[in-house]
Amino acid sequence: MRVLLTGGSGFIGSHIALLLLEKGYDVLILDSFVNSSSKAINAIKAYLENKNLNYDLQTISGDIRDKKLLDKIFIDAAKKSNPIQAVLHLAGLKSVSDSLVNPLHYWDVNVCGTQNLLATMNENECYSIVFSSSATIYGLTDSVPISEDHKISPINPYGKTKVAIENMFYDLYRSNMKSWKICSLRYFNPVGAHPSGLIGEDPIGIPNNLFPYITQVAIGRRKFLNVFGDDWDTIDGSGVRDYIHIMDLSEGHINAIDYLCSKKSCFEIINLGSGKGYSVFQIISQFEQSTGSQIPFSIQCRRDGDVARCYADISKAKKFLGWTPKRSLEQICLDGWKWQRKNPNGYS
Ligand code: WQD
Repeated sequence: MRVLLTGGSGFIGSHIALLLLEKGYDVLILDSFVNSSSKAINAIKAYLENKNLNYDLQTISGDIRDKKLLDKIFIDAAKKSNPIQAVLHLAGLKSVSDSLVNPLHYWDVNVCGTQNLLATMNENECYSIVFSSSATIYGLTDSVPISEDHKISPINPYGKTKVAIENMFYDLYRSNMKSWKICSLRYFNPVGAHPSGLIGEDPIGIPNNLFPYITQVAIGRRKFLNVFGDDWDTIDGSGVRDYIHIMDLSEGHINAIDYLCSKKSCFEIINLGSGKGYSVFQIISQFEQSTGSQIPFSIQCRRDGDVARCYADISKAKKFLGWTPKRSLEQICLDGWKWQRKNPNGYS
């Protein structure tokens, strides 16, 4: 089965690509490489070849806003009698802080790009899509754990683009309920790395997110971690989040493809998280305990847009996808540290 994986060289995309290829899917990666390195693709190939696995991976550098390119991708695949049967759509901009500064860019890439992709899929009768959505759309959460019917109230342009895309999916599905098979996966906090240490998270510049910042402190690239607030209404005053191992998240996508294949048509929105909440101080403590490294930190004031607690109710993923996360917080720390140790400067 051939799948198109947009954003397939990014942190999440590269882990999904590797898993798809290991499971025998033919994968076509489309990535603009504005936020990722082609070295991730090389690492995937090295891993598969090292395991003597045959694979069919094609990589195209391009932007989902390029309709001519999207048309060509689908038409060429059909001409080779190996048409694209499903799309995993991860391409998009994902920085909350950046979206506040460049909202129009986020609306253009994320929303117009997705509209382009869906139009091309429709024209080529490809009706199966798994989409990378985000827990950010829940905004200022007032109750945890968060289920899919929690209030939707994004508080930044990035989150608003994800809501707009889910609304697009709803309208599209309603327009042709016989054909469209759509699964929107709302990610909580994907962290860690592939156990081989060959691929992992490599943020450009100063990491916005906690986990890659911690691994960069551990490897000596950063002097200390800034903890954004220790006065939250949580177990120890620091922010509580749902950290899900990137491999658990990736496996959830394989389950989602299988789910779409099993349906005549559907439109489902599903949380993907660990279902557990850990505070910043608990993450620091677990990381130090698991890796033997020290993570010095400095308490700072709260970060705009943060909430006290955010973690998932994952009962729907269990029920619909037959999926449950398997990896522990300790495994997240060990795998994330192995990647950073083997790649002190990431892919560069
Ligand atoms: C986690 C906790 C911070 C950095 C973000 C995006 C969301 C999604 C996942 C894309 C919070 C604290 C963080 C630091 C800290 N990405 N922290 N010092 O904010 O839950 O979600 O990533 O979909 O869109 O918003 O993740 O890792 O930034 O923060 O103290 O240097 O760590 O305050 O409590 P977040 P995060």
